[in-house]
Amino acid sequence: MARKLAAGNWKMNGTTAELSEVAALTAAISDATCEVLLCPPATLISRMADMAQGTGLKIGGQTCHSEASGAHTGDISAAMLYDAGASHVILGHSERRADHGETSEQVAGQSAAAQAGGLIAIVCVGETEAERDANVTLNVVGTQLAESIPDDCDLSKLVVAYEPVWAIGTGRTPTIEQIAEVHDHMRSALTERFGQGADDIPLLYGGSVKPSNAADIFAVSNVDGALVGGASLKAEDFGGIVSALSQA
Ligand code: 13P
Repeated sequence: MARKLAAGNWKMNGTTAELSEVAALTAAISDATCEVLLCPPATLISRMADMAQGTGLKIGGQTCHSEASGAHTGDISAAMLYDAGASHVILGHSERRADHGETSEQVAGQSAAAQAGGLIAIVCVGETEAERDANVTLNVVGTQLAESIPDDCDLSKLVVAYEPVWAIGTGRTPTIEQIAEVHDHMRSALTERFGQGADDIPLLYGGSVKPSNAADIFAVSNVDGALVGGASLKAEDFGGIVSALSQA
C-alpha cells in the first residue's frame, strides 16, 4: 500500500449525472504519484469501479457491517463492497458516529470485517469543538484510536483519518501546529501499540481540505494525505488536491 493517499468521500451525494466528474478525474490524475480513492454512495460503486478500470483511481465504500451477512436490513457487508469493485472502506466517520450512534467498539468490529473481506479499512477519529475547547483533544483521539482498531489488525490494510468534527464542512481548519500535534500523537500511539510496523500506516487529515490549503497541510509531519468531502465532488478541485499531494 502506498503511503500517500488522497481519498474523496462523496457522502450522500451523487447519482448517474455526477459520473461525468469521475471521467474528468481519471484524466486529471493520470500523472499522480500518490494513491487516489473515491468513496461514492454504494449505489455508484460498481459503475465507478468500471470507469476506474485501467486508471490510477480506486473506489471505496463509506461504511460496512461487522457481520459477513445476515438479517440486517439496509446494511452492507465488506464482501458486497469488494464484489462491487471497492478496495477500501471508510469506517467510524463522525457522521456515522453522530447519525447512527456508532461506537468505537462497533467500528473495531467493522474494521475486522472489512479486512477479512479483503478491504483496506480507513478508520476515522476526531474531537468535537467542545472537546477541543476543553483541552481533551489528544485524550479523545487517543481513546477513539485505541478502541476503534482491533488488536489483531492487519496493519498493511489500515489507514487512519483524523477529522476534527468542527472542521468538517465548515471551511474552518485547525492550525498547522494543531494538525501536527494530533498526527504526531497518533503515530506515537500506534507505534507504541503495534511496533515499527505502524510507521507505514497512512495518516490522513480531513476537514475543509481544498486546493488552496492542501500544500500547507501536506507539508505537516506525519500527514500522509487527506480525506476530502465537499472538494472531492468536483474533479477540478479534487485534481488540485491530488496534484498538491503528488508534489509534497
Ligand atoms: P469536508 O471536506 O467537506 O469538510 O468533509 C470532510 C469529511 O468529512 C471527509 O470525510
